Amino acid sequence: MQVRALAADLADPGFPDQLTAVIDDIEVGTGVYNAAASFVAPLLSRPPGDAMRIVDVNVRGPLRFVHQLAPPMVQRRRGALILMSSLAGNQGSPGLAVYAASKAFTTTLAESLWAELRPHDVDVLACCAGAIRTPGFASALAKDAPGTLDPGEVAEAALAALGRGPVVTPGTTSKLASFAMRRLLPRRTAVAIMGRSLHDLDPG
Ligand SMILES: NC(=O)c1ccc[n+]([C@@H]2O[C@H](COP(=O)([O-])OP(=O)(O)OC[C@H]3O[C@@H](n4cnc5c(N)ncnc54)[C@H](OP(=O)(O)O)[C@@H]3O)[C@@H](O)[C@H]2O)c1
Repeated sequence: MQVRALAADLADPGFPDQLTAVIDDIEVGTGVYNAAASFVAPLLSRPPGDAMRIVDVNVRGPLRFVHQLAPPMVQRRRGALILMSSLAGNQGSPGLAVYAASKAFTTTLAESLWAELRPHDVDVLACCAGAIRTPGFASALAKDAPGTLDPGEVAEAALAALGRGPVVTPGTTSKLASFAMRRLLPRRTAVAIMGRSLHDLDPG
């Protein structure tokens, strides 16, 4: 296997050109947009630029990624795109307002593309995860949230779900939480629960 590394700022509008320069001579079979930016704090306590940066990385970033990688996949009628999303995007999440809104965007974008690109034999999937034991999450939280998964478990679940539908939520606890928050509870209760669960997060 050959590995090519590209150090780049995903918020940079020039990122697609930098990416093309590195992958120009290879076929990309599967693209995963995993990176994300966030802060834990009430929206108005931070300068607007902090929120805009989240939009650049979490909203414009995956859009640029899709525009760059999907056309050749459509042309050769083969390929897959996975966009990392979050249960935080299923309802308002006080303290994570822009991040949550960006993940709502990501999930909806992936669902729409799943339907648009299916006839072209290109799979698109939103991986709508709950808590994952990543370096960023571990540094923000003293102990695991219920149902916290290892990154490998999330990656395996996402790859296994490719071609089986537009969204996967890895882990039984997260699946149950997602069902309750989206389908069972009144919207205002779901928002309040999310706000309480985010109390334990360190604003960093
Ligand atoms: N961890 C969880 O509990 C959890 C739950 C649900 C969903 N997710 C999703 O899973 C994915 C991974 O999350 P994570 O927990 O691994 O996040 P993380 O620990 O905060 O790491 C974020 C990663 O994104 C990179 N990144 C941020 N801004 C960037 C930019 N402008 N250009 C290039 N890279 C940038 C960071 O690189 P640097 O370190 O170089 O800044 C870092 O590698 C995200 O999409 C997140 O929304 C995570």
